[in-house]
Amino acid sequence: MMLLDPRIFCAIDTDDLDRALQLVRGIAPVTGGVKLGMEFFNSHGPQGVDKVIHEAPEAALFIDLKFHDIPNTVAGAIRTLSKRFRPTYINVHASGGLDMMKAAKDACDPGVKLLAVTMLTSLDERCLHDIGYQEGLSDRVAQMALLAQEAGAAGVVCSSHEIQTLRATCGPEFVLMVPGIRPLEAERNDQKRVMTPQRAIELGASHLVIGRPITQADNPAEAAKALLNSF
Ligand code: C5P
Repeated sequence: MMLLDPRIFCAIDTDDLDRALQLVRGIAPVTGGVKLGMEFFNSHGPQGVDKVIHEAPEAALFIDLKFHDIPNTVAGAIRTLSKRFRPTYINVHASGGLDMMKAAKDACDPGVKLLAVTMLTSLDERCLHDIGYQEGLSDRVAQMALLAQEAGAAGVVCSSHEIQTLRATCGPEFVLMVPGIRPLEAERNDQKRVMTPQRAIELGASHLVIGRPITQADNPAEAAKALLNSF
């Protein structure tokens, strides 16, 4: 894949390889970015990623496997994927700590950018309290984003509700990769907090992760074009 940096990464979340490849063929020339996550990787493995790259050699790839382990192990995983696929983005959990994020960053091939997941958007204040976190969610997210920045990460994956705070905290160059995007706020699927692409970009998102609004449209390529033209 090419080390490009397009605005939209389309989430290809399916365990059906033929469907994934068909989607990538139609969408990648429009969005320029493709995101492969745990469902795809655990269904089709590195060979599946090879096939996606073969289908769309010009597209930028975001490998979204959210690693969280000791620094040496995470570095090994990042090094292997980074050398083999040259993704534009790859990610880890910020809660793995500064040393882990630094090791991950050092293991990235030149041009491969590290992102950190701060707090999963599925966790609310109550869930955080249950696992022993005392501070509020937004303070915690900002603290973790700063730690990711200190480790040399290019940016974070964050919810649309954190865009403004993190843009102010981490500066204009920091990548804010934002999922939970819906062309109409009414169509949310299982996402609890959604935002339109225009609003997310206005608030300071640098990149959008968009899955179902594109992949489940009657014509995914047209849906992707409409989204790109909306901001
Ligand atoms: O289909 P949809 O647009 O909701 O897809 C969003 C994508 O972003 C999915 O691949 C999902 O796993 C991912 N994601 C998310 N929320 C996060 C991190 C990643 O929705 N906090």
